Amino acid sequence: MNNDYNIITYSNILSAENYCLLRKSVEFHDIPLSHAKTALVRSDFIVAAYDENKPVGMARLMTDGTQTYVMDVVVLPNYQDKGIGRGLMERIVEFIKSIEYDTMLVNLLTNSDKTGFYEKFGFVKTVGMHLWLEKGGEY
Ligand SMILES: CC(C)(COP(=O)(O)OP(=O)(O)OC[C@H]1O[C@@H](n2cnc3c(N)ncnc32)[C@H](O)[C@@H]1OP(=O)(O)O)[C@@H](O)C(=O)NCCC(=O)NCCS
Repeated sequence: MNNDYNIITYSNILSAENYCLLRKSVEFHDIPLSHAKTALVRSDFIVAAYDENKPVGMARLMTDGTQTYVMDVVVLPNYQDKGIGRGLMERIVEFIKSIEYDTMLVNLLTNSDKTGFYEKFGFVKTVGMHLWLEKGGEY
């Protein structure tokens, strides 16, 4: 790792405020703070990367024991390409492997320019569909 920064540490603690800041840093859509709190509370596993006290990355997941959904894999732009995303994903995979299961399907959504990152961890491209719902929207 290029060592322009202090040593990166990983923690399972992440505030809703920092969750929103990290999402904003990579231009993910805004989530109200109250919904961010719910999202974190309902997560089965959260990992955050810190440069001293500064949050510089995060990832989280939800699982029902047969399938897992990985979400919000984010590294602050100035901290990208330094192995932090790998550090987050290794901890995500380690947690999933610690769950009791026979077979586990691990899902995530990503942009086409990020698929190479996830392929590093064994993910393969598949066909998926998603639906964005807005309150008061058509569906
Ligand atoms: C995707 C993201 C999390 C990667 O984090 P990162 O800290 O830059 O990644 P790392 O430096 O740990 O890279 C790990 C490995 O993946 C590779 N990699 C990183 N980004 C890649 C990409 N877009 N395509 C292909 N490979 C990539 C690196 O070369 C590295 O390979 P190596 O370990 O064999 O040397 C980060 O770019 C990011 O936050 N992007 C914006 C948010 C986003 O789009 N998140 C994913 C969608 S949910």
